[in-house]
Amino acid sequence: MSLTHDLHTDDAPEGETIVSVTRVSEPVKVDASRYTDPAWAAVEHEKVWRTTWQLACSLDHVKNPGDVFVYDVGTLSILIVRADDGELRAFQNVCRHRGMQLCSEHDSGRTELRCPFHRWSWDLQGRLREVPSRKGFGALRNDDYPLFAASVDSWGPMVFVNPDPACEPLADFLDPVPAEAAWAAIDDFRCKALISIPIEANWKTIIDGFSETYHVQGIHPEMLRMVDDVNSPQVIWDRHGRLTQPYGVASPRLRGGATDQEIWEGFVEVMGGRIGIGEGEDAGECPPVPEGSTLRDVLAQRIRDHFLATEGVDLSRFDTTELMTMEQYNLFPNITVLFFGDMLQVVRAMPGATSDEGSMDIMAFDRVAADAPRRDPITTEMAPGSYSMGLVIDQDVANLERAQKGLHAPGLTELTLSGEECRIINLHRNLDRVCGG
Ligand code: FES
Ligand SMILES: [Fe+2]
Repeated sequence: MSLTHDLHTDDAPEGETIVSVTRVSEPVKVDASRYTDPAWAAVEHEKVWRTTWQLACSLDHVKNPGDVFVYDVGTLSILIVRADDGELRAFQNVCRHRGMQLCSEHDSGRTELRCPFHRWSWDLQGRLREVPSRKGFGALRNDDYPLFAASVDSWGPMVFVNPDPACEPLADFLDPVPAEAAWAAIDDFRCKALISIPIEANWKTIIDGFSETYHVQGIHPEMLRMVDDVNSPQVIWDRHGRLTQPYGVASPRLRGGATDQEIWEGFVEVMGGRIGIGEGEDAGECPPVPEGSTLRDVLAQRIRDHFLATEGVDLSRFDTTELMTMEQYNLFPNITVLFFGDMLQVVRAMPGATSDEGSMDIMAFDRVAADAPRRDPITTEMAPGSYSMGLVIDQDVANLERAQKGLHAPGLTELTLSGEECRIINLHRNLDRVCGG
């Protein structure tokens, strides 16, 4: 299967592929077996997860020397270590003696990485230091047994690893996304939580749910009052993509439009916390919109006022567009990063033990004053539906297992995609490239 021809490049600035929602010439087909076949999952394990940069944790998780974070993907396990020289390093989580995993969970205050089996020990830079009963091995040189290095680097507060120690630099992999998102000054975000939700769905089913907003009309009807899900430009670069979506306006799908009061109520229902109105609280009257302003301007100012009052954070550098228009970046293969000026949230889809299992992980960040100290994020697993992640995310989670089950129907050999789903098309185009189509 080749998807390359389906994305149009006309009118694109150099280096970009602009995909308008109507620009595919015919429906784009993707084999459904990619979502259900264990053989395809095995190919992904070899060709994708072993060789690709992937989001592992936040800088808050490894802020102090001696902090160790365990990142597992399929049968791979990588340790991310803040060493005593202050540098971040990554190693395969394996002992060079007989292959025991060195660490089973995140830890802090480590001065060494010691295997619990026979107690070989490495320093935090991965150098072998101690071998009990060393003489029994004859001539064993420490320098011959460093931990196996992996690649590690960060973008803003997000830590990425690549199991391949000789891979391309992270900055090259992410290009041009960090430059495009530089306006959001993401170094000033701190991670407050990394929540993993096990889901009986393939990782692609999970991330596809965060790669298009065609489904807003289906499973998030409340949003139609407060988001323009139709006039939302998308950009596809080589591996990554972006959606730009205006909030604080009604969807054109609402034929009669919506009044300011309805838009206000919709905004409060979906994301009232951004203006200090908690879930379930009455939205009240829409504030007056001054002459020459829009409701988006009024909402943006409420966000600035709320942040200054509660967090002491000045958002005056962000204009209405930066506070009221979401930028959503989809990074190959399994990550989506959502920005408003006051918000950074990441959704990561992880493969599970079978092609029908995975997890939807949410990394939530708070904007803080510049140079504010790092946090201790909550890092935990939660059953689907056991805790509300907010109206919209709850609706997404509730949808995923059913979306996966249907993919096993005997007649359904292909998914049929539109230009509006170009970020899903682009994922498969890149999987073609990495795994072979
Ligand atoms: S397996 Fe690690 S010390 Fe033996
Ligand atoms: Fe959704």
